[in-house]
Parts: sequence; structure tokens; C-alpha cells
Amino acid sequence: MALPKVYVGLPIQESGRKLLEGKVDFKIWEKEGAPPRNELLEDIKDVEGLLSGLPIKVDAELFAAAPKLKVVSNFAVGYDNIDVAEATKRGICVTNTPEVLTPATADLAFALILASARRIIEANAFLRSGDWKVWHPELLVGQEVAGSTIGIIGLGQIGQAVARRARGFDMKILYFDPFRRPELETQLEARYVQLDELLRESDFVTLHCILDDKTRGLIGERELRLMKKNAILINAARGPLVDQGALYKACSEKWIWGAGLDVFAKEPVPLDEPLLTLPNVTTVPHIGSASIAARNGMAARSAENLLAVLEGKRPRDLVNKEVWK
Ligand code: GLV
Repeated sequence: MALPKVYVGLPIQESGRKLLEGKVDFKIWEKEGAPPRNELLEDIKDVEGLLSGLPIKVDAELFAAAPKLKVVSNFAVGYDNIDVAEATKRGICVTNTPEVLTPATADLAFALILASARRIIEANAFLRSGDWKVWHPELLVGQEVAGSTIGIIGLGQIGQAVARRARGFDMKILYFDPFRRPELETQLEARYVQLDELLRESDFVTLHCILDDKTRGLIGERELRLMKKNAILINAARGPLVDQGALYKACSEKWIWGAGLDVFAKEPVPLDEPLLTLPNVTTVPHIGSASIAARNGMAARSAENLLAVLEGKRPRDLVNKEVWK
């Protein structure tokens, strides 16, 4: 019997490819960047499975071009690149890759906390420019992380992993989440507060919630004005959670001390983005899950989810649970 056809829209690691071999007839987009839309739509017309990633917009047009599609397996924990409601309407399973990238993403959020607080990127540029003439008591002084207060917005798996790291730094932990988590409050010594209180009391505010219609623009001018003057905003979740124009004003006019950003409203971030001109804004190019272990895990997990659906089994990480009857 012919193997089911699958399109893999990004050059995934060997750990995923190995699982697909012999089980499905797959084609992989090996080049950098997303496949051009017309090529993608042509390549998926007979497929039953699509292994997609953040640069691929999976919408009604794509579903219409792939009438045999049974599963969209995203190579990411977030799935805001996918129109899940439309997939559900068509009975198509959507899956993601939680857990395997939790440590890497929490590490990166913490790297941004430390780098922003201690001005690591600025200090590196200062040294290399030859400006380091003498040890000075005020040279590149920053904020102390140990013993400070962290406000975690979204206490899902990544938020919890950030809290565990924060405990190692003797930080006081506040969190805000639509769901209160009493068992975690005890375990992590985290205090549940409303968003405004979190913003008013935290030295570090870190975002770990999903992007949807409720959270888009969650941090705007009003919220930034509630934050402390010494506070640092960290975003390793999704760019559109933050109003970038307001953040520019907050960081340039020093309503807050700075920001550490892994994600942007538009990615790749345009080089004329005003935030990139500010020394108190630390930026990296959406590398939250970019550890070798996490990426190998994501490749394997996305392949497993895809194969499960094609083999008629419930996938481990089904996002739209209502499609599985
Ligand atoms: C990365 O941003 C992911 O959602 O996995």
C-alpha cells in the first residue's frame, strides 16, 4: 500500500526525520525561510500530514489547497500561526511540542533577565570599542537580580520553570494567570496577584502566556506606566503581547529601566525598529527554544504527533481536542 504523503515545511533535525522514514512518503523544505506560498500550496495538494513551523501561515486558503489533510503538526509550542478554529471546523488535528522546549525557553528568559539587569550586551560592546580605560565605581552598574521580585504573567510550564530558576536567585515570586494554581503557589512559594499589582510590585516582569485575542496588546502604555522605574520587562513569549511603540517610549523616557526581548510584533524585526536603537533594550532573534536538546526534542515530538494521527491514534499533544471523538 502506498505510504501517506506528508510535507515537512522546515528542515527539521535528524531525530524527527528518522521517525518519518519508512512510515510516510515525505518531502522536506530544506532551504532557509518559509517555502514561497505558491510552491507550498502546490506541494501540499495531496498530503495527509503537514509538519509546519512558525513562519508558515496555516489558514483557510492552505486548508482549501490540501483537501486530504488530517493533521497539522507544529514544530513549536505556540500555534498562533495556525487558524485552529478553521482546522477544527474541517476536522483537522492541530498538535504542538510542549515540555521538550520548557527548560531551554526558561533558560533564555533568565538569560535575558541577567543580561538586561547587568547590561551584558552593552558591556561587551564597551570593552570591544576600546573605551575601557579604568575600573570605575560607577562603570556599567546595573540592577541586582538576587533577592528582587519577579512577576510572572502566565504560570504554565514555561512560567513554572522560570519560577524554579527564580527561587535559586532568592527572588520573591508573584504571578498572574487566568487560572489560579494553589498547589503551585505552595510548591513554588509564588503569590497570586492581579495584573496591576504584579506590574506595580515587580522588579522583573516576564511574559509566558499564549497569544490570542485576549492577550494581544496586554502590555501597553497604561501597564508600562504602572511598572517601577527600576523594572525590566522580559518577553520570550510572543511579540504582539506588547505594544512596541509604548515600550519604546517607556524605555527611552525611562518610565522603566529596560527590556529584554526575544520576540517582536513583526519577525524578523525590521532594522529600522526604534527599539533597536536603545542601549537599555537587549534583543535576540526568537531563540527561546534554540538549544540542541530542545530542537531535537521538538523534531521528534512533532514527527510523533504527525505519525500518530496518520496511524489513527490520538496524538499526545492535541491542541483542538474536540476533533478527536
Ligand atoms: C516558539 O516560539 C514556540 O512557540 O515553540
